[in-house]
Amino acid sequence: MADYIHIPAQQVEHFVTRIFAAAGCDQAEAHRISTHLLDANLAGHDSHGVARVPRYVEWLQAGFVLKGQSVQTITDGGSFLLLDGLFGFGQTVAPQAVRMGIERAQQHGIAVVGLRNAGHIGRVGAYSEMAIEAGLLSVHFVNVAGSVLVAPFGGTERRFSTAPISIGVPLPGRPLILDFATSLVAEGKVLVASNGGKPLPPDALIEPDGTLSGDPHTLYGHYDTIGPRNPANGSGAIRAFGEHKGSGLAFMCEMLAGALTGGGTSGPVEARGRIANGMLSFYVSPKHFGTQAEFEEAGRAYVDWIVSTTPAEAGSPVLAPGDKEAATKADRLANGVPLQRDTWDSILDTARRLGINDPA
Ligand SMILES: NC(=O)c1ccc[n+]([C@@H]2O[C@H](COP(=O)([O-])OP(=O)(O)OC[C@H]3O[C@@H](n4cnc5c(N)ncnc54)[C@H](O)[C@@H]3O)[C@@H](O)[C@H]2O)c1
Repeated sequence: MADYIHIPAQQVEHFVTRIFAAAGCDQAEAHRISTHLLDANLAGHDSHGVARVPRYVEWLQAGFVLKGQSVQTITDGGSFLLLDGLFGFGQTVAPQAVRMGIERAQQHGIAVVGLRNAGHIGRVGAYSEMAIEAGLLSVHFVNVAGSVLVAPFGGTERRFSTAPISIGVPLPGRPLILDFATSLVAEGKVLVASNGGKPLPPDALIEPDGTLSGDPHTLYGHYDTIGPRNPANGSGAIRAFGEHKGSGLAFMCEMLAGALTGGGTSGPVEARGRIANGMLSFYVSPKHFGTQAEFEEAGRAYVDWIVSTTPAEAGSPVLAPGDKEAATKADRLANGVPLQRDTWDSILDTARRLGINDPA
């Protein structure tokens, strides 16, 4: 099993901020990227946390992602907007797009915002949280242009990206955040399993001959115990979740976030290079609907009723979307962020190459 170390959240945040500042980002952007990645770790989504630091720095140095960008407005229809992220850091351009969506929804009651050509936007639930703070419901369909990793239902070859969806519901004191990849597992979870971390479900991947697999080699081909993992070296695919239904959702993410925004679908791609997130977001204001009080009352009562279901397994209560992340955050803020030793070593390595000493 993997070797874990626990590091206080604030130390992780400071160190990662220093890395992105040394890589050329201004202080505000470095801090934004760092807090977003740390927040994914705090939510328990280590696949989208600081493990991404070496790859983000490589992308910056390769010119795949650009520092200091601002979204460009392509179309402004009042209650709808199409924005281009110009390959800026996702943690910079996605919050800009979300803030614009929030403003428009507060004006019109509803807003639709397409964002294309964003660098990796990380944990999509973070954007639902921004809308929740503003009292808005939101739905975000996301795709990854230039990334084919997932086999559609009934097929064996890679066609979809891991195309996540997030839905946020602003119930006071009990926000709901549904946020997941439409692949059976996120790629980062295959990475974690390949490093000796949590094993994959035995049907998470599929071989070219249709055999189901939980072995990371299906995605990465041969790899050494310590060293990079490259999906280009493997011949299998990750499976879409939920059989034909999840596969259909992945399909629609590519249509809505990729084709409609003009940012492009997952593929076809010639070779792995620059990837970019597309996102189509819908914002709805319950206040403008005129049902704020009913919505909050019925919503709260419904959540209570659902989580009161008798557990199928003693000791494992039924949860609402977002509960697990909130509990993990409370635990990790109190007890430190668990990081696989390999993950921390590769962050230290990236830092050293940028002239930063290891934290004391
Ligand atoms: N930017 C990108 O291109 C990209 C691509 C893929 C995934 N992601 C992100 O990766 C992260 C991880 O995705 P994932 O598919 O591994 O998530 P996951 O499979 O852990 O599912 C998470 C969702 O399921 C809910 N949940 C978990 N356990 C539950 C339980 N017992 N009962 C009820 N609800 C429960 C959580 O509250 C959450 O809403 C997400 O934040 C996603 O946005 C980003």
